[in-house]
Amino acid sequence: MPPAALKEASDLPKSDRERWVEAFLRVRAETERRAAPLSGEDQVIQSMPDASPIKWHRAHTTWFFETFLLQANVPGYKVYDERFAFLFNSYYVAAGPRHARPKRGLITRPTVSEVADYRVHVDAAVERLVGEASASAWPEIARILEIGLNHEEQHQELMLTDILHAFAQNPTNPAYDASWQAPKCNPKDGYAELPEGIHTIGHQTDGYCFDNEGPAHRVLVGPVRIARTLVTNAEWLTFMNDGGYANPALWLSDGWAAVQTEGWQAPGHWQDCDGEWRQFKLAGLKPIDPAAPVMHISYYEADAFARWSGKHLPTEAEWEVSARQGVLSDTFGIAWQWTRSAYSPYPGFVACDGALGEYNGKFMINQMVLRGSSLATPDGHTRVTYRNFFYPGARWQFSGLRLADYAERFSLT
Ligand SMILES: [Fe+2]
Repeated sequence: MPPAALKEASDLPKSDRERWVEAFLRVRAETERRAAPLSGEDQVIQSMPDASPIKWHRAHTTWFFETFLLQANVPGYKVYDERFAFLFNSYYVAAGPRHARPKRGLITRPTVSEVADYRVHVDAAVERLVGEASASAWPEIARILEIGLNHEEQHQELMLTDILHAFAQNPTNPAYDASWQAPKCNPKDGYAELPEGIHTIGHQTDGYCFDNEGPAHRVLVGPVRIARTLVTNAEWLTFMNDGGYANPALWLSDGWAAVQTEGWQAPGHWQDCDGEWRQFKLAGLKPIDPAAPVMHISYYEADAFARWSGKHLPTEAEWEVSARQGVLSDTFGIAWQWTRSAYSPYPGFVACDGALGEYNGKFMINQMVLRGSSLATPDGHTRVTYRNFFYPGARWQFSGLRLADYAERFSLT
């Protein structure tokens, strides 16, 4: 006797479901492609509490589909392994108890190969569900499937940032991919003018977005000038050589405390090699490229640099309005850009009910918004309304900055 959700014959065009299966398999394959250069040992290590092992990313994204898609929509679904929910639930309190995040690197079992088997099992079950679900059950299945795919794409980015951080702890400087090349930049001089005006920001189309990108609402921005391009390594070296990391007057109190505690003297993944700075990248340890955008900086460092420059960081509204107008360069695909906007709910934001309501809303405190996307962001996972967020001391992401200038504003008042 087939489950209720599956027994009703589909009246949807087959091609629609085929497209969903293709999208699902494409995203799942990209995760495996990113894991492929890594050994079993590489995939188990956790280099710090904020970062997760590659094996955990592969298993957690699978648990997400199993829990929120299969268990919720396939009556009588039998979980692959009852121990996995505790091991691979990240932060969903409503989904049950979970293993401590800082101890994910201690989980040597299940093995990498057992996690691969778990992925194969869930892939087949999802494919079956998409193909056989009733027309009445389909809209909810498609909704969760889409969230699951976007969720996995977020973890694909984290796989690269987390393994880069892990490899950066290795004195032999292993390359994730020796042939990896930095994305091409298209730097443009100067600033784009943003006159005072009321603009709508937030997600307004029918396409997918995370809940934190709405509701769309109107904001007053400007006058402000936004740097067309990203701050470069050459500019950052000037800041360093000017004593930027040694001058408390440039830093927020918490930022200065982080400089002292962490011993920051340069961006993350920079190494002092006999008096010459080098940058540890996905391709291994390389000379600093002066023209490349600086990355692996915390909010505190971005803020200190802006103060040293006599400039500011833009707000996320200023960033989005400028990006929508097409006046910025290197907006996407290079480095996330810190804004000076706290990560808080847009007016009228309400998280959805249930465990998936925990996805974004409960983190809307004490973090800062980054806009754009990075070299690690998967294709198709970029939006002008995307709100990334991290704690102000985080710098293992591909995070950089562009400046904002309010001099015009003050000359007008
Ligand atoms: Fe997750």
